[in-house]
Amino acid sequence: MKILVTGGAGYIGSHMVHLLLKNGHRVAVLDNLENGHRESLPAEITFFKTDLRNLAETEKAMASFQPEAVIHFACYIAAGESMEKPFLYFENNLLGGINLLEAMRKKNIGKIIFSSSAAVYGKGKNKPLKETDPIAPSNTYGETKATLEKIINWYAKIYKIRYVAFRYFNAAGANYGIGEQHEPETHLIPLLLQAANNRRKNAFIFGDDYPTKDGTCIRDYIHVTDLCQAHLKALEYLTDPKNNSEIFNLGTTEGKSVLEITELIKKTIGRNLRIKIAKRRPGDPPFLMADITKASKMLGWRPEKSLEEIITSAWQWEQKLASNKS
Ligand code: UFG
Repeated sequence: MKILVTGGAGYIGSHMVHLLLKNGHRVAVLDNLENGHRESLPAEITFFKTDLRNLAETEKAMASFQPEAVIHFACYIAAGESMEKPFLYFENNLLGGINLLEAMRKKNIGKIIFSSSAAVYGKGKNKPLKETDPIAPSNTYGETKATLEKIINWYAKIYKIRYVAFRYFNAAGANYGIGEQHEPETHLIPLLLQAANNRRKNAFIFGDDYPTKDGTCIRDYIHVTDLCQAHLKALEYLTDPKNNSEIFNLGTTEGKSVLEITELIKKTIGRNLRIKIAKRRPGDPPFLMADITKASKMLGWRPEKSLEEIITSAWQWEQKLASNKS
């Protein structure tokens, strides 16, 4: 299939591109390279250095590649920053999203897979969340994801567009010799590994007074390759015109606390970590775990990689990054 991947030079997007190519798809990437890395992508893909906020340029890319389906990753992702710079998040994530849909409509592209987020659930709860749980984002990043889910749904109602929206829980790990490379890095696992690799003096635990078993936040960490595999299933699903648009959680159902991750990293990579307890990071829910019954029943998808594999692969990537930088 011919697939256009927006944000394909980013962390999850670039893993998706590699997996699509491995499965025989033809791929074009649309990315403004503000946060993406061109070097994460194989040479053979078609590349559009395009900003989705520019409708005319987005339409041009769509007309030139004429994809059968679009996978939409491109967006700003830092929840904390989204509370300091809401305009940037609303402008980039929402305007980018509607321009993409409009360009698809104009060029008669009828399938889209959208990267939504567990951030749409806001506070979370002490058991796995279902897709039917209330939508109540606690930051403007989550609000942009929840809003774009609704906008896509309107496009699907009004035009001949069908979609799958995936609410990702915590993507982590690495594959294909590439990995997570955010500037600045805000995610737990890469930050802990950088500290273990002496690229940072300390790692910080943001709050140990949450109402959880050890006082630190619980998250559901899923290997980036498992996430991407679900997109392959979604492409198959959308190929059957009888299948309706749907929203699915993507996680593992298993929650791990920040302290448990820290201990597991020490054990898995055999290094020590300098940890400091810091105050809570604003907007962090105590619990976020995914109920994945729906994706497993309707898409026949299940995550396969363990947390140890997440850590081992992310550690290999951290070492590669460190040696590239020295
Ligand atoms: N944390 C620390 N120290 C750090 C970084 C993070 O203690 O240096 C804690 C956070 O407070 C949180 C947990 O580790 O409790 C995970 O934090 P991340 O920043 O790695 O991930 P988030 O859960 O905040 O957010 C991620 C994605 C979001 C997505 C969310 C869904 O970045 O886009 O998962 O679960 F919405």
